[in-house]
Amino acid sequence: MSSMLEQLAQLKVKALAELAALATTDETRSWYGTVLGRKGELTALLSGMMQLPKEERPAVGKLANEIKAELEAALQERQAAIALEEMTQALSAEHVDVTLPGRRPQIGAYHPTTTALREIVDILVQMGFQVYDSREVESDDMNFGLLNFPPGHPAREMQDTFFTTNPDVILRTHTSPGQIRAMREYAPEPVRLIMPGKCYRNEDVTARSEMMFYQVEGLVVGRSITFSDLKGVLLNFANQMYGEGRKIRFRKSYFPFTEPSVEMDVDCILCGAKGCRMCKYSGWLEITGAGMVHPVVLRNGGYDPAEFSGFAFGMGIERQAILKRSIDDIRYFYDNDVRFLERIA
Ligand code: DAH
Repeated sequence: MSSMLEQLAQLKVKALAELAALATTDETRSWYGTVLGRKGELTALLSGMMQLPKEERPAVGKLANEIKAELEAALQERQAAIALEEMTQALSAEHVDVTLPGRRPQIGAYHPTTTALREIVDILVQMGFQVYDSREVESDDMNFGLLNFPPGHPAREMQDTFFTTNPDVILRTHTSPGQIRAMREYAPEPVRLIMPGKCYRNEDVTARSEMMFYQVEGLVVGRSITFSDLKGVLLNFANQMYGEGRKIRFRKSYFPFTEPSVEMDVDCILCGAKGCRMCKYSGWLEITGAGMVHPVVLRNGGYDPAEFSGFAFGMGIERQAILKRSIDDIRYFYDNDVRFLERIA
């Protein structure tokens, strides 16, 4: 008897020691099989009970039951501890720090040309101009001839044209051909239009000139339109675009499609006309070409110059952005360097 009881006691000590060393739930399951299962050590030990004298059996049975209960309790306890440990580990591995700030999405911004274009268009639309969408691919006649550039006129050479294999299909070098298209569409109704869009010139790309750039053309045709109307519109524009109290001045100029022709300047927004690098120490910034629509052009558009008059202007969009935001190189606009685009936006 004593040997059976001793064996049971030893089994218990050994099993508890093994249990204490286990680290995973899986290990505890196989421990159960080895120790308490149907083919386990305890069952194997008790199978020898039948050989014991009858009177010894109850004591052995009692002890075996106690040990079984004790081991089962120990197993449960160990499994609970391991489960807790496993959960703690999983939680710390999948740790989410809810106090971390969110990642800022990279959102886009308007291109500086778009910003300038919208400012200019908004100002002029608010003055009563309508937007007219003209085409970028033009005929030689629209771009030059009908605008009173005679063949072989040196002014043609000033606008380095991109030609196609068809000499009468060119990329417009300015937005002015839109004047003819719009007049032919609306004559003899009065018009008050702006025509924004891309222009192309086959020029060397430098800090001051690009092959592709934007202009906004303005055109007003009606009865008794005078230079005063042009002056009023451009002064109003300068004040809204470059700040209240701006001064403007007109310099005489030459364009084939206007007579008289002028350039309009505003007093330098950077130095207040004292003289600085931006205004090249002149105190003035050149904003736009303008003039009264030439009688020949009015006629080409379908208006009788004896009855109608008009004014026109044409300004570079990038140039307005350059002046307003002190950008020193037009090439930045279409290099697509995001550092520039982000800084300027
Ligand atoms: N088309 C001219 C150019 O690109 C700009 C211009 C000047 C437009 C005077 C006009 C104007 O309508 O009246 O250089």
